Amino acid sequence: MSEPLDLDFVVVRYPDPVLRQVAQPVTEFGPELKRTAEAMLQRMIASKGVGLAAPQVGVSIRLFITDHAQREKDGRSDRRVFINPRIENGTGDETYEEGCLSFPGIYANVTRWNRFDLVYQDLLGFEQRLTLDVTAGDFLGVVSQHELDHLDGKVFVDHLTTAQLTLVKRKLRELEKEYKAETGKAGAVLRK
Ligand code: CO
Repeated sequence: MSEPLDLDFVVVRYPDPVLRQVAQPVTEFGPELKRTAEAMLQRMIASKGVGLAAPQVGVSIRLFITDHAQREKDGRSDRRVFINPRIENGTGDETYEEGCLSFPGIYANVTRWNRFDLVYQDLLGFEQRLTLDVTAGDFLGVVSQHELDHLDGKVFVDHLTTAQLTLVKRKLRELEKEYKAETGKAGAVLRK
């Protein structure tokens, strides 16, 4: 019998310092990993996200999940788990409007690879390779690059220009104030 899922996962928000940590590689592909992924899926669905990285629920390991079909509103769901992911053969660029569950209310255009291979391990530890092409309609290509950044302690606002940052600065300050009120600490605030 499996243990009950940890449904207490909450999404940490900017400027929580866990969002700035480089996450640890996954080495154990056992039931605990599967439970973590399942609890993250429940959290992502409840929060209406299209992607969620483990550091966003305070677990600093190299794992993220996606449900990109939800965004395309085609009625299907395409939930996936990516472990120890990396990008190979990146070419071209594509700009897309992004948001993040850790930055509620903030949206901005980010430019990333257009076409690339996403190499990763599945829940059993087997290596997989997906070729993604954003221009050809692979929204998963946008989501997966955003989530992979989280595993390296990077967040989407790091990609913004000074002009773009000016537009979201007020929202960032609000999140910083909320974090300070909740924790009594400043957190890892954006330096720019
Ligand atoms: Co995010």
